[in-house]
Amino acid sequence: MKEMSLTTPVALQNGTTIPLVGYGTWQTPDGDVARESVKQAIIAGYRHIDTAAVYRNEVSVGEGIREGLAATGLKREDLYVTTKIWCDKKGPHAKEAILESLKRLGLDYVDLLLIHWPIATAEKANDAWKKNNNETWKAMEELVREGKLRSIGLSNFRAHHIEALECEIPPVIDQLEIHPGYIQKETVDYCKEHGIVVEAWSPLGSGRVLGDPFLNEIAAKYGKSVAQLCIRFCLQYGVVPLPKSVHADRIVANTEVFDFEISEEDFNAILAMEQLGFSGNDPDGKLNF
Ligand code: A2P
Repeated sequence: MKEMSLTTPVALQNGTTIPLVGYGTWQTPDGDVARESVKQAIIAGYRHIDTAAVYRNEVSVGEGIREGLAATGLKREDLYVTTKIWCDKKGPHAKEAILESLKRLGLDYVDLLLIHWPIATAEKANDAWKKNNNETWKAMEELVREGKLRSIGLSNFRAHHIEALECEIPPVIDQLEIHPGYIQKETVDYCKEHGIVVEAWSPLGSGRVLGDPFLNEIAAKYGKSVAQLCIRFCLQYGVVPLPKSVHADRIVANTEVFDFEISEEDFNAILAMEQLGFSGNDPDGKLNF
């Protein structure tokens, strides 16, 4: 594991690969902050950028991508870009909504498009979410065939949501909230059994776990920050972390996770930590945002 890097290719079941670490942009404000931080991430070596329609920063993320490419001399194909379709756009008009995302990003294609959330509150009572996800997936499959999407996947889907998906092209990714204190073992195990690579959103628990005394004690043993420990934990857990920061120094610090290894004993102790639960939204429950 020590010889790995941010860009180590992780194989997906459609024959493509995804860079091992991505740069997350959830809660990054639109405008200069998103543009500048995405550019800084590319300069720092990230080759994998993750956004979503509901983050409302796709325009600035797209600008940051162009500025980052200009600053580094890289080409579009050197980057892996993910976006996601939100609940309000799922269903019959999904295709148009996805093309709108591409337009906002200023890209001809994205490497990965995810259904962001399995169930919208209004769909829950009568199982309408199943139809909605299937219609959306069909649109995504068409866009794969049209060359607009390279890969398609899911986010926040549990096993029973995945089981309800009717697909010709199987999902390659499930992006879940994962960090020390929320390891979602059941869903991760299900994905592994079905060849679905798991990505970790909020690998630092959106900052929630950074003050945890137990994690601070472990991180200190390795001369690392808790943020670095959390990212390394994801790598050793076999999931693709998407750390977010809008600060250039942290963007760089969060890449320094390849010069140490968490011992088996410490790794198991982190796995066994008290589970904190999801960050406010249950994929089977009420949607609060
Ligand atoms: P900021 O963007 O101001 O740097 P997650 O990736 O789990 O969503 O966590 C992101 C949160 O953690 C943000 O609040 C971010 O703040 C903060 N953060 C990211 N990297 C670090 C770091 N290296 N040290 C401390 N806080 C960090």
